[in-house]
Amino acid sequence: MKHPAHRHTIELETATVLSHQACDGEQYIVRLQAPGCAATARAGQFVHLSCDPQLAMRRPLSIMRVDANAGWVELLYKALGQGTRLLAQRRVGDTLSLLGPIGRPFAPDPLRPRALLLGGGVGMPPMIFLAESLRANRDYAPLVLLGSEVPFPFTRQPSRIMVAGIPEGVIGCMPLLEDWGVASRLASGQGYPGCFEGYITDLARSWLETLDEAGRRQVSVYGCGPHAMLEAVSRLAAEYDLPCQISLEEYMACAVGGCAGCVVQVQTTEGPAMKRVCVDGPVFDAYSVFNTGA
Ligand SMILES: Cc1cc2nc3c(=O)[nH]c(=O)nc-3n(C[C@H](O)[C@H](O)[C@H](O)COP(=O)(O)OP(=O)(O)OC[C@H]3O[C@@H](n4cnc5c(N)ncnc54)[C@H](O)[C@@H]3O)c2cc1C
Ligand code: FES
Repeated sequence: MKHPAHRHTIELETATVLSHQACDGEQYIVRLQAPGCAATARAGQFVHLSCDPQLAMRRPLSIMRVDANAGWVELLYKALGQGTRLLAQRRVGDTLSLLGPIGRPFAPDPLRPRALLLGGGVGMPPMIFLAESLRANRDYAPLVLLGSEVPFPFTRQPSRIMVAGIPEGVIGCMPLLEDWGVASRLASGQGYPGCFEGYITDLARSWLETLDEAGRRQVSVYGCGPHAMLEAVSRLAAEYDLPCQISLEEYMACAVGGCAGCVVQVQTTEGPAMKRVCVDGPVFDAYSVFNTGA
């Protein structure tokens, strides 16, 4: 996989909260006026955000949507600990220090237009950003499968877009993706109506099984979510001999390549190497991260 180099300038700007929506499952969607970041952000990149003036350390959050003309970026986050709980208290008009966009984005392969996007939990935002970018190019036909074990941060609706191989009754989709004409389906182990009962990788397998060999040669896989899910995604991709890019989440301090606080071991052609998730990633070739035997 050829990754675009991380050449963009990382902006440091004072971002104003334009809207802040509380969703089920202690999840929040915040829209920030941050024109410098919005101007160059690409799917897979993230911002390093000061959640509150009293908190010294910033927190990394993926970019879910941008509007370069209007100058905003949108983030979806789950309130887990001190940082994200303080962020949840920020109101419209408040300002936050924002560093971004950071990291290597996804590199879609135009020779493989059937893009299979798999997002789990707070790994959904980069997949939504990627779907929005791919939709702008008519050559791509993305299929987005989202999984969550807490209520989805949007109101599920029945999809009108047919997808081969999807079990009967699995009709729940994300309204925003549906409005864009992007096929999506939802999975959960929590028994939510209209959702696939199980893992998104099982749902993805059902779809892959409907494709012949020529069809599979057009597929590329993109994933973001918990570590175990990414490993399962990588194994699935290996089983079907598909290229696969995944976005990793690691603890971060500086997020600009200076502290080595986020290193992971990956396989390179020269052997194992330590890479910084913040600037060498967060998007990596899945086969360099997981030993799938491929
Ligand atoms: C590149 C990147 C993109 C991310 N994108 C998003 C996003 O779009 N939405 C979102 O909700 N979260 C995202 N995260 C995770 C988010 O940064 C952490 O949840 C956040 O830093 C937690 O801070 P806190 O102070 O609220 O909680 P803390 O008190 O620091 O931690 C609370 C809990 O979260 C876990 N945790 C903290 N940081 C991480 C991490 N980096 N990876 C895995 N587990 C962690 C801890 O184990 C702990 O259980 C991303 C992380 C990275 C590195
Ligand atoms: S967080 Fe400092 S090098 Fe990545």
